[in-house]
Amino acid sequence: MTELITALDVDSLEEARQVVSECEACRWFKVGAQLFLRAGPDGAAELTKGHPGRIFLDLKFHDIPNTVANSARAAAAMGAALITVHAAGGRNMIAAAREAVEGTDTRILAVTVLTSMTDQMLRDEVGIPNSIPETVARFARMAVEAGAHGVVASPHEIRLVREAVGPDALVVIPGVRPTWAAQDDQARVMTPAEAARLGATHIVVGRPILKHREPRKAVTAILTELDEASR
Ligand code: C5P
Repeated sequence: MTELITALDVDSLEEARQVVSECEACRWFKVGAQLFLRAGPDGAAELTKGHPGRIFLDLKFHDIPNTVANSARAAAAMGAALITVHAAGGRNMIAAAREAVEGTDTRILAVTVLTSMTDQMLRDEVGIPNSIPETVARFARMAVEAGAHGVVASPHEIRLVREAVGPDALVVIPGVRPTWAAQDDQARVMTPAEAARLGATHIVVGRPILKHREPRKAVTAILTELDEASR
C-alpha cells in the first residue's frame, strides 16, 4: 500500500513534536532544510525516538562524490530512513551515496527536475536541450542504475518514472491534494488515491495536514483514501 509522509514544514522542534504526536497514525515525516536548520540534527533525530526509520531527510545533496558520501553516512548515522540527492550530480555521486549507506536501513532517493523548472529554463539557463519529460525519464533511469533506491517525482510524472525505473524502485510523490483540501501554490495536483493507483510508493503531504483544524483527522482521511485505493 502507498505510504503517507507528512511534511514537517514548520519552524521549530516544538511545533514538529506537536505535529508528530498529533499525527501518530502517519508512519513517515519529512524534515527539510527549514526544520533541520532550526532544530538541528539532534532535534531531527529526536523525532525518530521510539519510531526508528520514520524520518525522510530531504536536504537534496548535490556535491562532489566524496562530500555527498560523507553527508549520506552522517544522515544514516542520524537515523534518517530516506534521504535525497540531486540526480544532476551524476552517476558517480549517486553511486558514492549508495555505497556510503550500504549495510544501513537508509534509502537514497534521486530528485530529477524540479517542478519549478520549465522547458525554456532547462534549455536556456541549464543548457539541457531535451524536454522536461525526456530529462526526468533519463535522470530517473540513470539514478536507479547508479544505485538510488528510488526517485522523487511530480504527480504527472508517476507513469513515466515508473516505466523508467521498473517495478521495484521507490517513487515518492509531493504535490498531492485530497479533494477536500486547498490547492495552495501547487499548480498541478493529484489526489492520494490517483497517485496510489498510478504506482506511487509514498506520497508527501504538507499543508493539507499542517493547516487543517484537526491534523489528526486529515491524516486519518488520507490513510483511509490510500487504503481504499489499494483494494
Ligand atoms: O504543498 P505541500 O505543503 O503539501 O508540500 C509538501 C512538501 O512537498 C513540501 O515540503 C515541498 O517542499 C515538497 N515539494 C513540493 N513540490 C515539489 C517538490 C517538493 O511541494 N514539486
